[in-house]
Amino acid sequence: MESYSGLARAIHWAVAVLVLAMIPAGLVMVQDGLPRPVQNGLFIFHKNVGVVVLLLMLVRLGVRRLRPPPDLPAHLPGWQRRAAAASHAGLYGLAILVPVAGYVRVRAGGFPVEWLDTLGVPALVPRSDALAQAAQTTHYVAALTFAALIGLHVLAAFYHGVLRRDGVFGRIWPPVGRAGAERAASGPPGDGGAPS
Ligand code: HEM
Ligand code: HEM
Repeated sequence: MESYSGLARAIHWAVAVLVLAMIPAGLVMVQDGLPRPVQNGLFIFHKNVGVVVLLLMLVRLGVRRLRPPPDLPAHLPGWQRRAAAASHAGLYGLAILVPVAGYVRVRAGGFPVEWLDTLGVPALVPRSDALAQAAQTTHYVAALTFAALIGLHVLAAFYHGVLRRDGVFGRIWPPVGRAGAERAASGPPGDGGAPS
């Protein structure tokens, strides 16, 4: 069975690790009573890494256009194909909407995104409290929806990778190096895809 390209796999797992750190960081940093240095550190991490997630997702969409994902295994029922297509579209949409809304909330509110400032990238939205407020609400609602969809996505990955072992997980694993499916396709007959 074919797998995702090496670059698509690497970006998928980099984004997974970063987003799974961003969500708790975001939820913790808005709590009252945190020590100031901890809160500042979390905000700096959250804002700066969030913009990196956005850029990685844009690269990933570009890679996807150049090399579309392989077909799903033929035995998968239609409802699972439709569920996969819908949830992946939702994940792409939210992985872009959430950081964009965060960026607008911060920039329209007049706050820095440190690494962009260091590079001299100007704010791409005007300073506006109304805009910052709308973006804050959007960021909040979209981030919680995103977290719920990631939960479903991870459950689906567990179902395919651990319960069914139907080859779907191997399409996107490992993050670097050749995928098992590619090894199996190119290895000598009968080696079961073992590294040579
Ligand atoms: C521990 C966390 C995660 C696991 C175990 C996981 C697992 C997987 C697996 C097995 C696939 C392949 C599905 C297929 O063959 O079509 C996949 C695809 C995908 N994953 Fe994840 N994932 C995780 C986190 C995330 C996160 C945080 C995002 C957020 C953006 C994400 C977005 C996607 C997308 C958009 C696809 C479809 C790729 C495409 O068709 O271009 N994943 N994931
Ligand atoms: C994938 C990327 C991101 C995820 C998953 C994420 C998730 C979250 C979550 C769960 C919260 C806590 C809920 C809330 O109070 O709104 C939060 C808050 C926040 N995020 Fe993000 N975020 C991301 C990207 C960004 C970016 C790129 C920025 C800014 C450059 C940003 C700025 C903020 C700010 C300022 C808050 C505090 C909200 C407030 O003003 O009360 N986020 N984020």
